[in-house]
Amino acid sequence: MSVVTQARVVEHLQRLRLGYLAERLDAALAEAARSEPTYLDFLDQLLQQETAAKQRKRIAMGIQIAHFPTVKTLDDFDFKFQASIDQRLVRELATGRFISQAENVLIFGPPGVGKTHLAIGLGRAAVESGHSVLFTSATALIGALAKSETEGQLAERLTFYSKPKLLIIDELGYLPFERRSAHLFFQLVARRYERGGTLITTNQLVTQWGTVFGDEVLAAAILDRLLHHSYTLMVQGESYRLRQKKKAGLLGQSSRREA
Ligand SMILES: Nc1ncnc2c1ncn2[C@@H]1O[C@H](COP(=O)(O)OP(=O)(O)O)[C@@H](O)[C@H]1O
Ligand SMILES: [Mg+2]
Repeated sequence: MSVVTQARVVEHLQRLRLGYLAERLDAALAEAARSEPTYLDFLDQLLQQETAAKQRKRIAMGIQIAHFPTVKTLDDFDFKFQASIDQRLVRELATGRFISQAENVLIFGPPGVGKTHLAIGLGRAAVESGHSVLFTSATALIGALAKSETEGQLAERLTFYSKPKLLIIDELGYLPFERRSAHLFFQLVARRYERGGTLITTNQLVTQWGTVFGDEVLAAAILDRLLHHSYTLMVQGESYRLRQKKKAGLLGQSSRREA
């Protein structure tokens, strides 16, 4: 193939947004000269490589947009340590079907048992299956909504948090809400209801949510929408962080659970 033809092919590839192939054309041609694939196999390999590159890029971008606080995957999660978790349910949730059906997930449990890890792992799986995801702590979410309300931008902020197919709200209940904040939270939940999936991690059982939101009626209205189509994961047992410290001999058996 002449240099001119090759340059033209690269130009076509770029115009067609097949950037990976445009960059790798030289190498692909050299490899084909060696292994002499059929025309069809050659085309098949090229398209597969471009598709895989596009997929990797889409996932990397989705993960960036999601703003996960740390890198965690479901594969890193030690299900043997947390025998209380229904692993089958976690695997089912990882397919992302609950998101397509605008269902919710509530993960309950004390500190350190892996709630955030599971939330990030499920969020990552959701990105991989093609859903838009946003991760936020409950405190940051309420802070942002309250600020936008003060600035007259509440509608825009509510839209921002309503758009992702999966919204992950971490650490609900660690700090109680003021009444106004609870109302903002209700507005968001009402907006997302039956439109997108919401995953919440919390250290408070639903019976405590009246206290969390400072208002029993509002808490009931929030729970009504969240629980209507929902899955529940109860994580029990001891803190993974503390277990590791115990193993390292840093703590005695009588040490109390961390706050
Ligand atoms: N079953 C587990 N397998 C692997 N790592 C775990 C497990 N449970 C917790 N961890 C790790 O322990 C730390 C605390 O877990 P985290 O998810 O932050 O707990 P929580 O959100 O429930 O307070 C994290 O580094 C997390 O990755
Ligand atoms: Mg956590």
